Formats: sequence, structure tokens, C-alpha cells
Amino acid sequence: MLSALLCLLALAGGAAPAAAAANARPCASPDSASAYPFCDASLSILARARALVSLLTLDEKIAQLSNTAGGVPRLGVPPYQWWSESLHGLADNGPGVNFSSGPVRAATAFPQVILSTAAFNRSLWRAVAGAVATEALGMHSAGQAGLTYWAPNINIFRDPRWGRGQETSGEDPAVAAAYSLEYVKGFQGEFGEEGRIRLSACCKHYTAYDMEKWEGFSRYTFNAKVTAQDLEDTYQPPFKTCIQEARASCLMCAYNQVNGVPMCARKDLLQKTRDEWGFKGYITSDCDAVAIIHENQTYTTSDEDSIAIVLRAVRHTKSAIEKGKIQEQDIDRALFNLFSVQLRLGIFDKPKDTQLGPNNVCTAEHRELAAEAVRQGAVLLKNDNAFLPVKRSEVRHVAVVGPSANDAYAMGGDYTGVPCNPTTFLKGIQAYVAQTTFAAGCKDVSCNSTDLFGEAIEAAKAADIVVVVAGLNLTEEREDFDRVSLLLPGKQMNLIHTVASVTKKPLVLVLLGGGPVDVSFAKHDPRIASILWLGYPGEVGGQVLPEILFGKYNPGGRLAMTWYPESFTAIPMTDMNMRADSSRGYPGRTYRFYTGDVVYGFGYGLSYSRYSYSILSAPKKISVPHSSVPDIISRKPAYISRDGLDFVKIEDVASCEALVFSVHIAVSNHGDMDGSHAVLLFARSKSSVPGFPIKQLVGFERVHTAAGSATNVELTIDPCKHMSAANPEGQRVLLLGAHVLTVGDEEFKLLIET
Ligand SMILES: *[C@@H]1O[C@H](CO)[C@@H](O)[C@H](O)[C@H]1NC(C)=O
Ligand SMILES: *[C@@H]1O[C@H](CO)[C@@H](O)[C@H](O)[C@H]1NC(C)=O
Ligand SMILES: *[C@@H]1O[C@H](CO)[C@@H](O)[C@H](O)[C@H]1NC(C)=O
Ligand SMILES: *[C@@H]1O[C@H](CO)[C@@H](O)[C@H](O)[C@H]1NC(C)=O
Ligand SMILES: *[C@@H]1O[C@H](CO)[C@@H](O)[C@H](O)[C@H]1NC(C)=O
Repeated sequence: MLSALLCLLALAGGAAPAAAAANARPCASPDSASAYPFCDASLSILARARALVSLLTLDEKIAQLSNTAGGVPRLGVPPYQWWSESLHGLADNGPGVNFSSGPVRAATAFPQVILSTAAFNRSLWRAVAGAVATEALGMHSAGQAGLTYWAPNINIFRDPRWGRGQETSGEDPAVAAAYSLEYVKGFQGEFGEEGRIRLSACCKHYTAYDMEKWEGFSRYTFNAKVTAQDLEDTYQPPFKTCIQEARASCLMCAYNQVNGVPMCARKDLLQKTRDEWGFKGYITSDCDAVAIIHENQTYTTSDEDSIAIVLRAVRHTKSAIEKGKIQEQDIDRALFNLFSVQLRLGIFDKPKDTQLGPNNVCTAEHRELAAEAVRQGAVLLKNDNAFLPVKRSEVRHVAVVGPSANDAYAMGGDYTGVPCNPTTFLKGIQAYVAQTTFAAGCKDVSCNSTDLFGEAIEAAKAADIVVVVAGLNLTEEREDFDRVSLLLPGKQMNLIHTVASVTKKPLVLVLLGGGPVDVSFAKHDPRIASILWLGYPGEVGGQVLPEILFGKYNPGGRLAMTWYPESFTAIPMTDMNMRADSSRGYPGRTYRFYTGDVVYGFGYGLSYSRYSYSILSAPKKISVPHSSVPDIISRKPAYISRDGLDFVKIEDVASCEALVFSVHIAVSNHGDMDGSHAVLLFARSKSSVPGFPIKQLVGFERVHTAAGSATNVELTIDPCKHMSAANPEGQRVLLLGAHVLTVGDEEFKLLIET
């Protein structure tokens, strides 16, 4: 039986005294160990957790199973609120974080994840997670935040309409996996003795969850029909890394069903995380997922049955036990996992002397890191005739147009808390130019009327340079809400056309939003000189935009998701297939499989510099060492042949480490500005192989290169992990024969043989 915790806030009747009691620590006093064996520091954490479980009555146990855990007053165990949020800064979407119950009134709003991802910089990702953790600990010490957080969101950005795609690290499983590793390690801190951690991070939402509400479908009841092949090489890899390598202490199961069974009841997929990936932590359901299994998915005939299959709840647990649907041992196992995590966090013990406090929140250092994340993530999509950067000395008057251009709260995206000191684009630009004029152009992002166009025309006519801020907002894409169109909302396109027709010079278009937008019109319109995508940049967006416009920073981010044309919306969002199928006119999804046209592709992004690459060294061939397992050796041949091609199963490879190789690349900056940008190395097979990715990312690194010089970068490639793909049976295989690796316009061949 799996173990889990129910996110059951709605049913629990209000928020728990999360913080109030957070500082009550039953094991803080020196004599507590003799009073309570679970306080005995000479015991292992597991023994202490078992000791605590053994002391509880059934009612006390049941009271621990909600995210709003009741505590055990007679043992001094404080109530605990498990649900805090920290996706890209502390957020109050969960009741564990409260900005009005103490001295901390705000926290640094880092850019939304899809933007930081575009930096392709692992140390940046880790630094941001570390800074969010510092703020969490500071806020926790003031009793305003918990120690257990339900981030990162590591689902694959499978469909451009997805309202929560913004929260993810894009469409590539290897990037999402790499991000999860940095986030969890940066956030939880280094593992101490017995897996001690400073905070708990949660890999969510397990698995194949990437639709909110689209046409008649809802995430609560959606049955995701996923092939074994897609599950293995698209949906699962980030979770595997998040658990196995990053060692997250929490896993959240998703609302949706996978192939007819609610994910929180997929015993096979949940147990796999413990048996195969070594998961040691607690499993939580997404909020109310258990009741939904019965009430909305009608998968079970009663709530007791729902609990029996997923084990959790408050309302119905006792009656489930009475009716014999679950055993008390099942609850004990869940509690053991919960208490183990609390003990690993040191919740019951005397606090360390080196506590962080409210002064560690909203620091200048964190603000600078947030700005750095925006700078590194910003993606320059178009820059005709090197229109940008503009010389500050040559610009007297800038017009800033657009409904979000002066709205500090349009910039955060989903799961934003209270930002420390948000700067709007208008304010940011005002700090650089003597004269600025602002015109909203549209009343709001939905932009349903042309009433305010006149004002925008006047502002644009008078200015030397016009910056139009367009794109999305949470009114267009958010949790529980997907888009139906990829075009700019309402009359935004008309606004851009109208403004473009009156400006003195071509205009600069700044796009906001997490999901891709079909801006083909702007891509092809010479009156629009430059397009800069800023995702949801968080509180420092307004500070960074002028740095890029005026050339203080040289952009070098790259899109972490494909920008599809509007015609893609003819594909039902509910089709989970990654692979194209020409027999039914299905184009496939993401750069790995999609066969149609794109507006901008995965990995696209310009810079003020022109970079070129040359391969300094790379192997010409690698040989796969065979397994030493006798029955595999005796299998002849040791590889699988299919469609005239030979594959070796990854599980039959004796040592994947032996296959790891390095590629050294020289990166030259031919521009006159220093710059850092993301170097992406892709692999494809020499011949096109049915069901195999068209190409896939095998390595990436952000590199800084001074103007007019070159930098060497080394990429380390793990072929088992990054050059393999799943076969139709869902087994990972490596194609033998010639592969082509490409970086920019450079390529080299690699032969994989047995
Ligand atoms: C946050 O704290 C305030 C002040 O203590 C309280 O009134 C409010 O209910 C709390 N909010 C939540 C969601 O717990
Ligand atoms: C990656 O990010 C870190 C943290 O912001 C930064 O110090 C480093 O310079 C970045 N790397 C490059 C090549 O830009
Ligand atoms: C689930 O079903 C219940 C009872 O019919 C209904 O009240 C609730 O709104 C539904 N919830 C969702 C998320 O669809
Ligand atoms: C963006 O959305 C938020 C609500 O999510 C709203 O408060 C804000 O006004 C919107 N901004 C614009 C410019 O529409
Ligand atoms: C704008 O128009 C769309 C579609 O016509 C409609 O769904 C939406 O509610 C409107 N928004 C506002 C703010 O009027």
C-alpha cells in the first residue's frame, strides 16, 4: 500500500495555525528525550519516526493525514501546515505562507520558471532555488511560512495552450530533468546525516499532467491516454531525475487519470518511485484529488473505496477502517513517511543557532539575482538590421504602449506572492530617457475595444522610439484555464499594426506570457524591427528591459518551447501522443517529434553578437560494452533488429558510464559586445527512424565570450540517458550506427557500435 497525505484544505475548515505553533518544538529541551523516545537523538530518524507512530491513537493518526495536520497536544507535537508554495519565490497560494501574519510583508518575485529556463544556466537555476530557500527559512523563523514546499512543477510543456506551461521548464524532458535537479538541490540543501534537509521540495504533478480546462475537458476528470513509449521518454524522465538524482523528499500525484486509472491510485507507477528510484519521502495528492476520484471521476463507488486505493483522508478514513477497506498499518506507513520528513527537517528539535530571519527576505542580493535571471532568460526573437540596442544618447523621447506596460502585477505569472518592490516597464524606461509617454492602448490584456487606440497613436507619432508591450496575462492563461487560440488576445494585433503605421522608425515589440504566441504577422512585418520575449519577468522586469534596449546587457536566452502557428489548435489538446502519425494527419508535438511549421523553434534566440562554433575535439566512435549477465550474453544477437536497424537495450548495457564522452567546442563572438549565451548540442540519427525523435538535445551550457574573442566549452554527453529513446514497448534503446551531432551550423558524426 502506498502512503500519502491528503491536501484537503477545503474540507478541513479553514487554515491551520501554520505558523503560530511552528516554533513549538517538543524535542527542544534537554530532558525531552527521556520523556519521549521520538526525541531521543541517539536513535536513528527512522527509529524516532516509528516511536512516534507507535504512541498515537487511531484518532490522533487520522488527524495527521491532512495537509492541515492536527498535531498531538499530549505529546507536544505541534500542528503543522504541510502546504507552502515556492515555485519562483514564496507565494501564498497555499495556506502555509502568509504575508499578513508577521513582520515579513513581501518576498522576492523571481521570474516565472519558463523564463529562467531560457537562460540554460544550471548554476543560475540552483542559485535562484537557493535564494528562495533562504527567504523561506527567513519567513519560517518569523512564523509565516512552512518548511515543506510543493515545487517544482516538472511536467512537460506538451501543448502550447496549457495554462500552467509557464510554471514549467519547457517541452524537453532532459531540460526539465536538469532543472528539477538544480531546483531540488538548491532548495533542500545538501543532504546531511540520515538525509537531513533544510527544506523539503516536491516533484509535481506525477504524471502526464498538462491540461487544465479546455473545451469540455477538465484536469480533474481527464483520462490521459499515454503510450508506454511516450511515458518512458517524455513524461517520466523529469520525475526519475527529481527523485533518483535530486532526492526530493516529496512527490505529488496528479488529478488526472493515466490510461483509465486515477494517478493517485496508480499503485504501479507510485510504487516504482520507491522500488526503482529509491524514493524516500512522502506522497501527497493534489488538493482534493481523493474526493474527486469518487465524486467526479466515478472511478470508485464510494469515498471509502477511494481512500482504500490511495489511502488518505480525514472525513472518511475512520469509516474506511471500520468497513475493513484499509488496515491501520497502511496509515502507519503513511505517517512514518510524514514524520520521517519532519524529523529530517528538524521540526521537533532545538533550532540551530544560525537561523535566518526576516532580514534575509527581499535583500538587494536576491533582487540582483532575480534581475540576472531575467537578463539571462530574455529571448531576442527578431532584430532587423541590428535595430537594437539603441544608443541612449540618440533617444530623447520614448513612447511605451500596452496594457501591461505600467502594471506591476501583470509581470509575475502564476504562483506569485507579494513582490518586494516591483518596477513596471514604464518606470524602468523613465530612469533612462528624459521624456517618456505612456499609452495603454487597450483597457486590459483581453483588449476588446479600440477606444484607447487614439491615445496610443498620438504617443507613437511624437516619439523617437516606440516600445509596444503585448502578450498574455493570467486572464488568458493560468491554473485551471487553458487558451483556445495562440494568437494575441482580442485586438492586440490591430493595436500593434495601428501603432506601427505611424511611428517614425520601426517599433520594438516586447512580448509577455508563458505560452507561445503566433506572432507570424510581426515576424514578417518590416515596421516591427525587434521582438523581445520576456515571459513573466517578475518584479525586476521593468529594471531589466531598458538594460537590454539600450545595450547595457547583451541577450542570449533561447526558447525552451516550440512556438507553433495558430493552425496547430486544430489538434485536440487531449491528444497525448508525442509522435507524429501521418496516417491520421497528426503532426506530433515538441521539437523532438513535430513535423509541421513553426513560428519560432525550440532553442531559437538571437543576440547582439554573432557567435560561431567549431568542434575542437569529439570522439568518432564509441563502443557499447555488453552486459556481463550470462543470459543476456547468450542472447544472439545481443541487440534488437527492427526495420533493418539495430538497437541495444539500455538495460543490457554493462556500463553506461563507460559510454560517457566529452565534446570540446570553441565559441567565437564576432560582435562588438561581450555576451553570454546558451550553447545547445543536438543529436539525430543519420537515417530517419520511425518513432525516434527527429533530433534531441544531448547537452547544453551557458557560455560567456568577450567581444572579438573565443571561449572553449566542454559538454559531457551520457548516451544512455540523452541519445536513447523508447521503443513501442516502452523500453529505452540506443540506436546503433551513425549519429549526427550539431551545434549551430557545425556538425560531426559519431558511430555507435557494439
Ligand atoms: C493570514 O494571517 C492573517 C493575520 O494573522 C489572518 O487573518 C489570515 O486568516 C491568514 N490567512 C490564511 C490564509 O491563513
Ligand atoms: C550563470 O548564472 C550564474 C548565476 O547568476 C552567473 O554567475 C554566471 O555568470 C552565469 N553563467 C554565464 C555563462 O552567464
Ligand atoms: C466534483 O463533483 C462534485 C459533486 O458533484 C461537485 O460539487 C464539484 O464541483 C466537482 N468538482 C470538480 C472539480 O469538478
Ligand atoms: C492581469 O491579470 C490580473 C489578474 O490576474 C489583473 O489583476 C490585471 O489587471 C491584469 N492586467 C492587465 C493589464 O490586464
Ligand atoms: C473580451 O472578449 C472575449 C471574446 O469576445 C470575451 O470572452 C471576454 O469576456 C471579453 N473580455 C472583457 C474583459 O470584456
